[in-house]
Amino acid sequence: MPLDKAATKEPTFTLIDNRTGQNWNFPILSGSLGPDVIDVRRLYAETGMFTFDPGYTSTASCESTITFIDGDEGVLLHRGYPIEQLAAKSDFLEICYLLLNGELPTKVQKKEFWKGITYHTMLDEKLKSFYQGFRRDSHPMAIMCGVVGALSAFYHDSLDIHDPEHRQLAIYRLIAKMPTIAAYAYKTAVGQPFISPRNELGFAENFLHMMFATPCEEYKVRPKVARAMERILVLHADHEQNASTSTVRLAGSSHANPFACVAAGIASLWGPAHGGANEAVLKMLNEIGSKNRVPEYVKRAKDKDDPFRLMGFGHRVYKNFDPRATILRESCHEVLDELDVGEEPLLELAMELERIALQDDYFIKKKLYPNVDFYSGIIYRAMGIPVSMFTVIFAIARVAGWISHWNEWIQEPEQKIGRPRQLFTGATKRNFVPISQRR
Ligand code: SDX
Repeated sequence: MPLDKAATKEPTFTLIDNRTGQNWNFPILSGSLGPDVIDVRRLYAETGMFTFDPGYTSTASCESTITFIDGDEGVLLHRGYPIEQLAAKSDFLEICYLLLNGELPTKVQKKEFWKGITYHTMLDEKLKSFYQGFRRDSHPMAIMCGVVGALSAFYHDSLDIHDPEHRQLAIYRLIAKMPTIAAYAYKTAVGQPFISPRNELGFAENFLHMMFATPCEEYKVRPKVARAMERILVLHADHEQNASTSTVRLAGSSHANPFACVAAGIASLWGPAHGGANEAVLKMLNEIGSKNRVPEYVKRAKDKDDPFRLMGFGHRVYKNFDPRATILRESCHEVLDELDVGEEPLLELAMELERIALQDDYFIKKKLYPNVDFYSGIIYRAMGIPVSMFTVIFAIARVAGWISHWNEWIQEPEQKIGRPRQLFTGATKRNFVPISQRR
């Protein structure tokens, strides 16, 4: 619904400058769910002032119809469907279709979409030679950034962002090739030959097959493990205007091609404050080592002078349980049972850490709960996936959200390049000093 058609509530929001007594009125806009917004698009033109909101804690950067989060209630909807239902009943390709098109696919639409994805899973043979240039110990996220950005050097028939057919092709290629690019990054690290995608396999099954199969024997992905991976991909597919999605939108606002925009999103996701947290959680649990050391680390997390934070805890939006963490905690037990992992000390440790933290006043007052990254790593580990691949799997899933938001933005009637301003507190104008006169 274009903003100017949004229901505009009376009265508008009045701003008063108590230095001059001047006041201005700005429209209040309402969406279908969530907080109203103050439309400040005319603020600078009318007042000569900017808003100031580093980290965008109180800023709506766009209008979107894709995902809604209610942080206080722990609600996550994709096109209106609760994440709990999607995780239990749908699969990743359906979620991709839903995020992109706004509705769950019919049987015919799903078959068409599946075909569009399946027949784009292979990589150009020349692109595969990229991997020869990476060191064995390259972080797979470094490889993902490089190879995904390079897709625009190969697929010239899907670079014109104003051509719907080019856009559709780029969307198919990005969703389809991320698992292949990821699996080849893993094979590079373990020195094994690349395994081609198989058209008869499901999406998650295909990825796990490319990860763990070798040319030496048949490899069958366990159906329950494939199902668990499908559910993990569904849970990580999209999450409103998070840092990496906002990065993709900002890159898209300059009309960069979709492959370059997604490469920027991968770079942003890599940070331990964002998608890199799943890797950081495993490192933290290994460092804590045993239940009796949990109080020591909880104490450190509360210490202002200690940079240590409980990784996998806290969230900018959720001030309640992240619904995805709740689902993943249940999945942990299922996958560990399926894989006969038996007692997983890290899971015991994670649950003890959660129990102690959630009883602690500091975490209660600051509303810090486990987020999506707290349990996912334990499931990946049980599947035999190395820690360095954890954020890569997050990227495989999140490309669905990134490209859906990119696609939504690129069709915005009122497209503007994203160009924030600043509060300048640096040196005021002064004249150049020749080096002979500098002290
Ligand atoms: C993801 O945005 C998304 O939707 C992201 C995501 C998605 O699907 O895209 O959900 C995925 O990125 C999940 C978050 C993964 N990151 C982590 O688990 C890293 C650990 N958590 C944080 O660093 C932190 O909680 C953030 C980055 C997630 C949120 O940071 P905010 O909203 O900017 O909050 P903040 O850093 O200002 O923290 C508020 C207070 C601070 O204390 P005060 O300065 O108010 O005294 O809470 C404290 C923080 O010190 N705090 C923590 C903490 N997280 C916040 N203290 C200890 N341990 C933590 N984990």
